[in-house]
Amino acid sequence: MAKDFSTMENSNPSSNPSIHEVSDPARRIVVRGGLAGVATGLLAPLVAGCTTAGPSAPVFEPGPQLGFKSVPVSTADIVTVPPGYASAVICKWGDPVGLPGNMPAFSPAAANTAAEQAAQVGMHHDGMHYFPLDGSRRGVLVFNNEYTDDGLLHADGMKTWSAEKVAKSIAAHGVTLVEVARQADGNIEMVRPSKFARRITAATPTTVAGPAAGHPLMRTAADPSGTMVLGTLNNCAAGPTPWGTYLTSEENFIFYFNGPDQPDADQRRWGLRAKGGGYRWHEFEPRFDAVRNPNEPNRFGWIVEIDPTDPTMTPIKRTAMGRGAHEGATTTVRPDGRVAVYMGEDARFEYIYKFVSRDRMQPGGYAANRTLLDHGTLYAARFNADGTGQWLPLKAGTGGLTPERGFADQASVVIRSRQASDLLGATKMDRPEWITADPRTGELYCTLTNNSERGAQGRPAVDAANPRANNTMGNIIRWKDADEGDGLSFTWNHFVLAGDSTNTRAEARGNIKGDSFACPDGLWFDARGTLWIQTDMSTGAMGKGDLANIGNNAMLAADARTGEVRRFLVGPTGCEITGITTTPDLSTMFINIQHPGESPSERADPDAPSRYSRWPDGGRPRSATVVIRKLDGGVIGT
Ligand code: FEO
Ligand code: CA
Ligand code: CA
Ligand code: CA
Repeated sequence: MAKDFSTMENSNPSSNPSIHEVSDPARRIVVRGGLAGVATGLLAPLVAGCTTAGPSAPVFEPGPQLGFKSVPVSTADIVTVPPGYASAVICKWGDPVGLPGNMPAFSPAAANTAAEQAAQVGMHHDGMHYFPLDGSRRGVLVFNNEYTDDGLLHADGMKTWSAEKVAKSIAAHGVTLVEVARQADGNIEMVRPSKFARRITAATPTTVAGPAAGHPLMRTAADPSGTMVLGTLNNCAAGPTPWGTYLTSEENFIFYFNGPDQPDADQRRWGLRAKGGGYRWHEFEPRFDAVRNPNEPNRFGWIVEIDPTDPTMTPIKRTAMGRGAHEGATTTVRPDGRVAVYMGEDARFEYIYKFVSRDRMQPGGYAANRTLLDHGTLYAARFNADGTGQWLPLKAGTGGLTPERGFADQASVVIRSRQASDLLGATKMDRPEWITADPRTGELYCTLTNNSERGAQGRPAVDAANPRANNTMGNIIRWKDADEGDGLSFTWNHFVLAGDSTNTRAEARGNIKGDSFACPDGLWFDARGTLWIQTDMSTGAMGKGDLANIGNNAMLAADARTGEVRRFLVGPTGCEITGITTTPDLSTMFINIQHPGESPSERADPDAPSRYSRWPDGGRPRSATVVIRKLDGGVIGT
């Protein structure tokens, strides 16, 4: 059912001391535009290599950051881009991915079988990255298929339910890998068939590595070894590693599981409940019945590493980086050559995490870094009211993470990352979504998408990092880690509080220098240093209340130096904008349109699947990738 689990993601009842208790109200909204007072003197200059752009990325001269004409707010059922730009659609849900000898055509009536779906582009595209095979001319485009709308996926929706429908839903989840190439006319098209084409689904065998591999909490009747899981689930944001792999993150995995009527405290902390989120997989796939298989949920919620250039590679769950409703995984290189991976958990009052590898990254691509993400230290962030912060280590035997409290070993810590972070007193955030690193300064930026419950009865109060009680609009926070060692201290402020400057409710106005937006989710610095912001207002909230004037979900570009924000693209009706990557020369950008035409209930009516949108091809709405080019062939954003 609903992707927007906003009424369900309320699993953190812990009573961490809120930093609000020591905050100075005058500092709650930190000045935008350059790091404000307290932080400036503490920031180190950009360290070479502190970028996720990849080893062979061209270097761009800083020029006028934003050179395009702003796109107005819109509620039209189309993709709008600025004058001088063109967009085209590829990789629609159901398109054959290009498996040699297995390219079933899309059925506009949703009549494809589960087996056909497993050879087609998955549903509800999310995080994405372009891996060059031949620079900007040819590459592997890898993107997540976060979840399914089963009202749209099957010809009669969920009116009947069967093993075949569960199998099709499972096959529409996961990750899609396609080869794309620039044509003579400059357009980018899928290459089919291709030896790089691949689908990884919620049934693909996936290895477990790191401290939780083989642990008793990871063992099931079907996998007594605790090392081999079937599939990856609810893959949300994603990120490349500097050694050429793709990290996909498992977000709202818990809602696929049927839980007991009376969940225990640990199960409640992860949001497990009877019937889960209504996917009904457990009715035909017993592994999704946590009453019968209580350890199966422990095997999801991980960061999964995939080699995009080796279609035979078994995906690997990297458990050293912790378990959570992970939104993404953003890898940077520390000054000493070790890597830091930043992750948020998108749920109300959950945490921001960092993993620092034990070992240095080695030259030689994935072959030389196969176990880099299996050894290191996981941290949760505490944001202090004075603009400083600490990374708190999640390490068994330290900081109160004792056997008596259920942390007998590191496996127990990473499997129960939320409970460990509660004990350490990490800061409960307003739904952390994407994290991205500024290639100029090394600062990390993170979207906090919204939280309407802060300050509500029994819920944590506002604090310096999460300064709005009824935060319908969302924020973007940023920080800079210290350079030495694992970088355990940091300084932070807000880049922007999103909002509508004309709103009558003071708290909803925000402080945007430029075009209005709400509910930032996707966030990505391109190699030129332009910050791209993608929005995800939920379909039920769009166009009403505080969001009345903001139109459809959109993508904006920001100049991180000046704070200027300009709307670059508006999506069709009922969609979320997500996923973003470019070719290395920045002449082509790829973004994803997720769930165009989503109904307010977030499940389509199978008798009227096109009621809210016919994007992109006039029939049943289909999530898809949009390719954006500048008509003069220039750099996107100029
Ligand atoms: Fe999958 Fe938090 O968005
Ligand atoms: Ca998201
Ligand atoms: Ca979101
Ligand atoms: Ca969505």
